[in-house]
Amino acid sequence: MRRFAACTLGLALAAPLSVFAQSAPAPQTLVVTAAHLIDVLKGTVVDDPQVVITEGRIASVGLKGDAAPADAKRIDLGNRTLLPGLIDLHVHLTSDPTISGYRGLEFTDNFWTIVGVANAKKTLQAGFTTVRNVGSANYDDVALKQAIGAGYISGPRIVPATYAIGATGGHCDTTEFPPSVSAPSPAVANGPEEIRKVVRTLRKYGAEVIKFCGTGGVLSKTDSVGAQQYSLEEMQALVEAAHMLDMKVAVHAHGKAGIDAAIRAGADTIEHASLADAESFKLAKQHGTVFDMDIYNDDYILAEGARNGVFAESLEKERQVGLKQRQTFQAAHAAGVTLGFGSDGGVYPNGDNARQFAKMVEWGMRPMEAIQAATVTAGKVLGKEHDVGAIEAGRYGDLIAVSGDPLADVTVLQTVDFVMKGGVVEKSAD
Ligand code: ARG
Repeated sequence: MRRFAACTLGLALAAPLSVFAQSAPAPQTLVVTAAHLIDVLKGTVVDDPQVVITEGRIASVGLKGDAAPADAKRIDLGNRTLLPGLIDLHVHLTSDPTISGYRGLEFTDNFWTIVGVANAKKTLQAGFTTVRNVGSANYDDVALKQAIGAGYISGPRIVPATYAIGATGGHCDTTEFPPSVSAPSPAVANGPEEIRKVVRTLRKYGAEVIKFCGTGGVLSKTDSVGAQQYSLEEMQALVEAAHMLDMKVAVHAHGKAGIDAAIRAGADTIEHASLADAESFKLAKQHGTVFDMDIYNDDYILAEGARNGVFAESLEKERQVGLKQRQTFQAAHAAGVTLGFGSDGGVYPNGDNARQFAKMVEWGMRPMEAIQAATVTAGKVLGKEHDVGAIEAGRYGDLIAVSGDPLADVTVLQTVDFVMKGGVVEKSAD
């Protein structure tokens, strides 16, 4: 009862769920200058840029010395390079990889909400001003979004999926307990009708994107990583229900059969995509499906997994797909599949998201392409290309700055000196 009363009050205070919420915008006009700016729309570098931000949105992008309101607050970032706030299409803010496998059972349910508070801040401080949270229990991602929007805590803009939907016994079910221990998930659904109902229920409680498990996974127990877990018919019902409610669909899929079926069903993004092949690439291009391939975390899982409590069978599955996924990334890029930046933060420590840029470059992308995957492409994938993903008049004042040249050495993105979100300085360069 007490919990219900608190929730009702919280909803009354927070911004409506449909708003791409953020902390209250700074009222004044800001003029930001730096040595360089990466124009991700054109794929070029602008020297001596000046960006004017009014009421949280970019008013103009020009050159140092251009006219600006006299009473504006000035922020000069010296020799640094400005980029749009980064976007990660695949995170789990309420996860901590150092508590893996059965270790999580030591903690009470709401512990994970608090983990999410800490990780939201770390993620924003790392330069990721927008994230898509593709799976968390208890509608925690909606709570985080509301708390960030209402100014209680600091964090990125969040596009929440709430629970990830999946079949009984699949990657999105809880499979680590014996039959006598019940751990029901509200998002386990089988057959088109049950699936449609779950999609509508998640939407009702704040989901803005739907995530489902189309195949097995690495970190789950008892399933085979490549095996398809929903039929084409089930996927079609899910996608139809989600699209009808204006939500896009992200599919966890490692195996080829599940990847191809999800593309045919009209899913918007394929997460992981480890065992996709040339036929999958062709299908993805035909359907305009984007792949978000988490190609950094293999290093982390193999190095730290055993110490973190990851199941032995999961480590074995990681060895099956890790290298293969990177080779698939390279081939998908060469084949012209659109690749977004999705890193699976939470599988490795949240806040280290930018480590994936170096892997993307190592496996075939130019640094500019890797940056575009995490900005302009990701903004489009979210359907928020008028709000985020580029430093352009009209979009939010989401800016970051780094020392050094990210186009010469993409690892400089791992150390972000300055972060602004919606015209509010979240990390100051001095
Ligand atoms: N959440 C994913 C799963 O359990 C993580 C996969 C990590 N490994 C990788 N090579 N991307 O399947």
